[in-house]
Amino acid sequence: MKKVFIQVPATSANCGPGFDTLGLACNLYNEVSYEITDKKGFQLEVEGEGADYLKPFGRNLAFASFLRVWNAVTDGQRIGLKVKMLNRIPMSRGLGSSSSAIVAGLFAANALCDDHYTKDELLDIATEIEGHPDNVAPALYGGFTISYMEQEKAHSLRLLPAKPLKFIAVVPDSKLPTSLARQAIPKTVPHKDAVYNTSRASLLVGALLSGNYEYLGMALEDKLHQPYRAHLIPGLPDVFAAAKEAGAYNAIISGAGSTVMAYASPEADCERIAKAMVDVFAANNEHACYHILDLDTDGVKKV
Ligand code: HSE
Repeated sequence: MKKVFIQVPATSANCGPGFDTLGLACNLYNEVSYEITDKKGFQLEVEGEGADYLKPFGRNLAFASFLRVWNAVTDGQRIGLKVKMLNRIPMSRGLGSSSSAIVAGLFAANALCDDHYTKDELLDIATEIEGHPDNVAPALYGGFTISYMEQEKAHSLRLLPAKPLKFIAVVPDSKLPTSLARQAIPKTVPHKDAVYNTSRASLLVGALLSGNYEYLGMALEDKLHQPYRAHLIPGLPDVFAAAKEAGAYNAIISGAGSTVMAYASPEADCERIAKAMVDVFAANNEHACYHILDLDTDGVKKV
């Protein structure tokens, strides 16, 4: 096999209180094909997000992650590589675009190498490249994931919520680099804030597994990263308030931002929630678009 077509989902990390730990995959996808060619070097065709600036060179995550697996399995066999992307996941907005590129590259190379590595082994390689597991895990496995590091290895427990949920991703035009958003977080936090987050993250997992979604309002609260990042997202407290007022359980910063994601019941008026959030961004001079999403339960796969 010389060519593989894959689909990889957007992800939303942290899920409020689960900083660098919790994540979920949703049904907004990048589609990528990888083809080994006789013509040496890299070729890249991009449609959608990044079409104006992604370039075919080795440090581009799409090529670097592919070569990470390819070189390890084939002992560095030299090849030409043609990548075509249809990118729907917005970049630098907290919806896992870099994780999707890493996971796509690793998964494609692995598929072309007769599935040499298991998904669990790919998780560990992806985490090493990304720096934390909370986006790459749901991109690989789908569903809702609880990830943790043990002796420098990444692990993840995947679970599916007891009942459907809607995720309203409101995406501001302004990008927010993860590196900048991580700099905003202090090195130490008060012990009572750590306890606060332990209780909320535990409650969130319990609510999702039991289907007791009346706890989600409380369970999605956070004190470890959102208060420190609030100044980076225009009107954030009012965007949260508008989502709740329009009928969402609650809203959180998706990953490191700038996307804000509301969690809502399938019975809620999701368009109304989205528009209320977009209006608050507009009142703060920030144009935003939105996606009303479901959980993706498959993760990356061949199509
Ligand atoms: N957990 C990460 C953060 C996700 O919030 O910085 C972004 O990659």
